[in-house]
Amino acid sequence: MSISLDPQIIKMAAQYLAEDKLITLPTETVYGLAGSARSPIAIQKIFTAKGRPSTNPLIIHLSHPAAISDWAIDIPKTAYLLAKKFWPGPLTLVLPRHPEVLPAVTGGQETVALRVPNHPIALAVLEEFKGGVVAPSANRSGRISPTTLEHVRAELQDKVDFYLDGGPCHLGIESTIVYLLDSEVIILRKGKITAKDLEETLGQKVLCKNQIDPKMQIQAPGLSLSHYAPECPLYLLPISALFAKLRELMSENKTVAVLSFSKKPALLSHQPFWIQAPLQAHLYANALYSNLRALDNQNPDCILVEAPPEGSEWEAIVDRLQRASYQI
Ligand code: TXA
Ligand code: MG
Repeated sequence: MSISLDPQIIKMAAQYLAEDKLITLPTETVYGLAGSARSPIAIQKIFTAKGRPSTNPLIIHLSHPAAISDWAIDIPKTAYLLAKKFWPGPLTLVLPRHPEVLPAVTGGQETVALRVPNHPIALAVLEEFKGGVVAPSANRSGRISPTTLEHVRAELQDKVDFYLDGGPCHLGIESTIVYLLDSEVIILRKGKITAKDLEETLGQKVLCKNQIDPKMQIQAPGLSLSHYAPECPLYLLPISALFAKLRELMSENKTVAVLSFSKKPALLSHQPFWIQAPLQAHLYANALYSNLRALDNQNPDCILVEAPPEGSEWEAIVDRLQRASYQI
C-alpha cells in the first residue's frame, strides 16, 4: 500500500482543500492540480498556476455518483447508466450545471463536467473532504499532462501547496469526455473508454464532436486542435516516411528525437535519440507522456513519432499525438 494512503496524510490533504489551497490529485489517468470546487480563491489560483484562459472550464471530481445532483440538473437517464457502468473510472460527463456551481468553474457556460476518478488516494481524499474538487491536469496550459509527481514538480514547482503522491498514473491518458444533453451523446475528447464501449452500455449511436453538425454549437473551449505540445516541432509519420524525414534532418545536421515501434537501427550512432515504444496500446498509453517528455528534454530540433496502427484501442493515443503534432 502506498504511504500516502496513511489516514493522516489524507486528512492533511483534505484540510489543505478546505483552506482554499492547492494539492496534487493522483488519478488513474493523469495528475490533477486540485482545489475546492466551492472556493473562488482556489479556482483563481488554479487558473493562475496553469496560465489557463478563464474561459476554459474545469472538471469537478466527486467521491461518489450520488453527488451528481449537487452539481448538475435535468440529468438524463444516460448519465446514470454511464455512471453506473464506468465510475469510478476514466469518463467525464458534461451535464447542465446546477445554479450553485461557480461560474468560474464552468468558464461561464451552462454545462458542468463531472467525474469520479478510479484511484484509491483520490477517492480517499474526496471522501474525507466531502465536497467537489476541481482538478485540471497539473501541467502549464497547453503542455504535456503529468503522469508522475516528478512531472508535476517540473511543471508547477512552488505553485502547489501540498504534493500528494499516488505513484505513476496507471492509464496515462486523460478521461474520455462525453456531452450529454437530452438524448444526445457526443464524445468531446477521446480516451480509454471508446464510442463502442458507450454504445454497448446505452444501446444507442454515439458520435464524436467532429461528426456532428457544427450548427449544434457545442461549447468545448479547451478542446482546440493544438494541445499537449512539446517545445519543438513533432511529426507523426508512417515508418517509411519517418526514415525519409530522419535522413533529411540528419543531412542538415539537425538533432532529432524518435519514438518508434522499431529498434534503433544498429548503424545509427548516438544521434538520433531513440525510444522504442511498446506494441500494446495500454502500455503505449501508460508511457506516452513520459516518453514525450523524455524526447522533449533532449531539446532536439525536431521530434519524429511513428504513427500507431489502426484500431479503437489506439484512437485516443492517435488523437493526443495528432494534437501534439499540430503545427500553426
Ligand atoms: O483525466 C482527466 O480528465 C484529468 C484528471 C486530472 O481527472 N483532467 C483533465 O482536466 O484532463 P483538464 O482540465 O486538463 O481537461 C479537461 C477538459 C478541458 O479541455 C475542458 O475544456 C473540458 O474538459 N471541459 C471541462 N468542462 C467542460 C464543459 N462544461 N463543457 C465542455 N468541455 C469541458
Ligand atoms: Mg489538461
